[in-house]
Amino acid sequence: MSWLVTGGAGYIGAHVVRALVDGGESVVVYDDLSTGCADRVPAGVPLVVGSVLDGPLLESAIRDHAVTGVVHIAAKKQVGESVEQPLRYYRENVTGPETLLEAMTACGADRLVFSSSAAVYGMPDVDLVTEDTPCLPMSPYGETKLVGEWLINAAARAHGIRAASLRYFNVAGAAAPELADTGVFNLIPMVFERLEAGEAPRVFGDDYATPDGTCVRDYIHVQDIASAHLAAARRLTDAPEGTALTLNIGRGEGSSVREMVDRILKVAGKEDVAPQVTERRPGDPARVVASADRAREELGWTARHGLDDMIDSAWQGWRHRNR
Ligand code: WQD
Repeated sequence: MSWLVTGGAGYIGAHVVRALVDGGESVVVYDDLSTGCADRVPAGVPLVVGSVLDGPLLESAIRDHAVTGVVHIAAKKQVGESVEQPLRYYRENVTGPETLLEAMTACGADRLVFSSSAAVYGMPDVDLVTEDTPCLPMSPYGETKLVGEWLINAAARAHGIRAASLRYFNVAGAAAPELADTGVFNLIPMVFERLEAGEAPRVFGDDYATPDGTCVRDYIHVQDIASAHLAAARRLTDAPEGTALTLNIGRGEGSSVREMVDRILKVAGKEDVAPQVTERRPGDPARVVASADRAREELGWTARHGLDDMIDSAWQGWRHRNR
């Protein structure tokens, strides 16, 4: 198989590219470099610079590189921004996969691994979220990921595409410092940024109905996210036409914000700093933790890395970037 990885120069994409290459797959990266960096693409892997809204360029990339499957990661992914710019999010995250599916069907590339998100669930009222937990997204971002899944499932039924939508939970960490996330949009980098500015990290609310009152999430190492893509790509290679899998990609373990902040302070050598509890952040669910059973059953995949790996490697990446 030859895989086109859209968004392959981004934080998650670059890890997926490495996992596929290390797994012996042939890979081409397709990225508009809006947030990705060309130097994340490994030597020997071709890079096509372009937008996922550019159907003719997608078709020529697929044909020129004899691509048989696509890992579609390129997307907009900031929840808050999606509230301000819903049209842009629908264009990139819904018209993007629709354009891609048109190019794939025109060229006969019929395997697709899609980056989805736990954001499709919104505020789940269950201990462990299964793939059958109702999807009630709370943001345009979450909506676009859910619509993307529907689109792919419909195309799988109608056009024989084999697809897997991977619903990532809270991704963190890096395989190497130079591959670390450069955005400061999630808990771990936001704490690093506060510490660097000499400010106390913020805990957004401690009056939730959780054991320590702070929100609980399922944090997963980006290398585990990457290995799930390799497993999904292999699972689809021999799958029958019309296969459409939807899989949670998490560890199945919840960690509270307070626990995370304590661990982050320790790794950063700032145990003397006291976190500052602030108002709740609007729209935050109290608890979102995956049931990872289906991914284990369907892919034979489980996460291997723990919180210390995630936080240590994120810290190495932060120091590398700010050295
Ligand atoms: C984690 C917890 C915050 C910063 C989002 C998207 C989700 C996915 C991952 C893309 C929350 C708390 C944070 C801080 C804090 N994205 N927090 N102080 O909101 O769980 O998930 O990113 O697919 O779809 O919704 O992640 O890292 O922003 O927050 O207390 O300075 O940390 O309130 O409880 P979130 P996050």
